[in-house]
Amino acid sequence: MSETPLLLTPGPLTTDPAVRQAMLKDWGSRDAAFIALTAELRSRLVQLVKGEATHVAAPIQGSGTYILEAAIGSLVGAADKLLVLANGAYGERMAAIAGRLGRAVEVLRFGEDRPVAAGAVADALKDASITHVALVHCETTTGILNPCEAIADVVAKAGPTLILDAMSSFGALPIDLSRTKIGAVLASSNKCLEGAPGVAFAIVERALLAMSAGRGASLSLDLAAQWQGFEANGQWRFTPPVQVVAALVEALRLLEREGGPAARLRRYQDNLDTLIAGATAVGLELYLEPSLQAPIIATFRAPSDRPFDFDAFYQALLRRGFIIYPGKLTRVETFRIGCIGAVHPADFERLGAVLGPALDEASVRS
Ligand SMILES: Cc1ncc(COP(=O)(O)O)c(C=O)c1O
Repeated sequence: MSETPLLLTPGPLTTDPAVRQAMLKDWGSRDAAFIALTAELRSRLVQLVKGEATHVAAPIQGSGTYILEAAIGSLVGAADKLLVLANGAYGERMAAIAGRLGRAVEVLRFGEDRPVAAGAVADALKDASITHVALVHCETTTGILNPCEAIADVVAKAGPTLILDAMSSFGALPIDLSRTKIGAVLASSNKCLEGAPGVAFAIVERALLAMSAGRGASLSLDLAAQWQGFEANGQWRFTPPVQVVAALVEALRLLEREGGPAARLRRYQDNLDTLIAGATAVGLELYLEPSLQAPIIATFRAPSDRPFDFDAFYQALLRRGFIIYPGKLTRVETFRIGCIGAVHPADFERLGAVLGPALDEASVRS
């Protein structure tokens, strides 16, 4: 086994050595060099989704959930109402955040194996009191891809502001803000951008952020105040995770060198195709219909023809150099294998060769 196992998870992920190397330096958070690094970070993030004409980047310290909480607390006002479109745990998480913040919230639910349906969203938006809609782009609970552009069109026609949780899609799946109307796109450093964990960010319409000034529900998670801080002097309001920011900028430069999100998506798709070929060869079945499965993280059903002990399977794969992820579904026994990070089809070929022996060990142990 290699000393550090490959992380086939939804993040934190296996990173490129150059990304880890970028964390070896100390930075003065109010020094001109770090201010320039922050400016590069913010402009690269906006460019990735073609938002230069309309949107700005507001990064914050913390994991993905922090930016969900910051965006909902800052953009959805006390007199507003949020409609959450949910087909998994992360949609439910946004609804829980809105409830905790005392915001009016309604949830339109779909099966975990079904994409959010634009027609049902159009029906729900006949309720004129809905001011904001929240959607998860790739619902990492299963890895299902939701039809972001079709839903953005429906929401734009009806008038509310769309908030997109693009945590597990940003940097790989296409998002084009010059063509698709999305008020805020939310993501973090440690998924398809392949950085280290510790920074999350919102790419928000400038006008929307300006309108939300002064009404953030929290001091540290106030998106408008965070943005105004960057605009005022280029600095973070509170101590930034300097090494994580440096790693993320390095990761963004690597993404550009790889050929941008389209090239990264192709690599992830090759990873997924290789993974599925290896898994089906040993009798494993995808949980989702293949056409719904995004090349981010794949959910497999536990084998039904023999006993299966996930912990034994996990340990058997760990001994062979791979870390996988448990399932997140309550009604069906599943496990997940991620395709993102600094990993390549050859890694999934090696995985395919050890899935059979690992499954044998998992059924013997149970
Ligand atoms: C779609 C989605 N939203 C939100 C989150 C929460 O992010 P974090 O665990 O970094 O707080 C995740 C994490 O996997 C996610 O995949």
